[in-house]
Amino acid sequence: MDQLSIIQPDDWHLHLRDDEALKTTVPAAARGFGRGIIMPNLTPPTTTVARAAAYRERILAQRPKNSNWQPLMVLYLTDNTSPDEIRAAKECGFIYGCKYYPAGATTNSDSGVTDLNKLHEVLETMQEVGMVLQLHGEVTSDDTDIFDREAVFIERHLRSLVQHYPRLNIIFEHITTQQAVDFVLSGGDNIAATITPQHLLYNRNHMLVGGIRPHLFCLPILKRDIHQQALIAAATSGNKKFFLGTDSAPHIQGRKESACGCAGCFSHHAAIELYAEVFDQAGALDKLEVFASKNGPDFYSLPYSSHSILLKREPWQLPMAVAFDNSQLIPLAAGTTLNWKLSL
Ligand code: NCD
Ligand code: ZN
Repeated sequence: MDQLSIIQPDDWHLHLRDDEALKTTVPAAARGFGRGIIMPNLTPPTTTVARAAAYRERILAQRPKNSNWQPLMVLYLTDNTSPDEIRAAKECGFIYGCKYYPAGATTNSDSGVTDLNKLHEVLETMQEVGMVLQLHGEVTSDDTDIFDREAVFIERHLRSLVQHYPRLNIIFEHITTQQAVDFVLSGGDNIAATITPQHLLYNRNHMLVGGIRPHLFCLPILKRDIHQQALIAAATSGNKKFFLGTDSAPHIQGRKESACGCAGCFSHHAAIELYAEVFDQAGALDKLEVFASKNGPDFYSLPYSSHSILLKREPWQLPMAVAFDNSQLIPLAAGTTLNWKLSL
């Protein structure tokens, strides 16, 4: 097979940043995709409907001419989010989910939630009005090893959360472990997960053997090989609970190549092709469409795109760097050769 036509995919988890950065990130996010779930971890975070509306306008101002791409906005939950804000978010028509960051878990999460119990009324309201909860599923306790933070989150918080709110639609974001795959598989139809290209393509050896590669550092951190294999199996299975979410998260080169480097990988220079590479290697290209273009809309009760995209088997070399925010960033898999290319 030398070409593959699929329904236009969507990206159910991405970071665009703001202001000058949008000049790079918005056209990149629209490359091949129909819709994108826009993460709200700005400084200050997108905690209100009014902030989300203003951010959406700044994003749309950078959308390429003739592009049909749509930003789907997200509200950032804090200890002080009110049930009224959730209702307003549901009614506004452009907010598609609320994001739970444990305070301090990752980039710009300082205003995140300190204790899930503080969100009781908010979660009840989300369940009642049918608002999706997008979870950064890691504990932040100092005594928990960074490689265990996702698995511990499941046992310490997620099982009881699902029991308390049995009708709440929950997306376990950017899953990285066999335990997360098993948890999602054992849950009802209201529990799903997104999977990133970096967690499918790499394990922690790629990041740490033979020298430290800061451009592979993201959160949740890459795990060992058996977890990578579990994620590949889940993504390529066709199961409706797993869908595409790149977590493309740009940082300028200097912020990553640093004594205390930032977490996040930028993948929108070649997002759908990076996934195609994984599916091809797994002998599962026939499952790419359901993962990239159908399972996400089904979970969010949205229609599939009426457009399609064409991927061609055509070796091409990824750029070494991408201009970004008056500087540059090093994209995921920089300089490597991919076998599939989006036909634009
Ligand atoms: C993200 C970022 O840079 O905003 N970083 C990351 O490593 N994934 C935040 C996040 O999604 O955790
Ligand atoms: Zn993210």
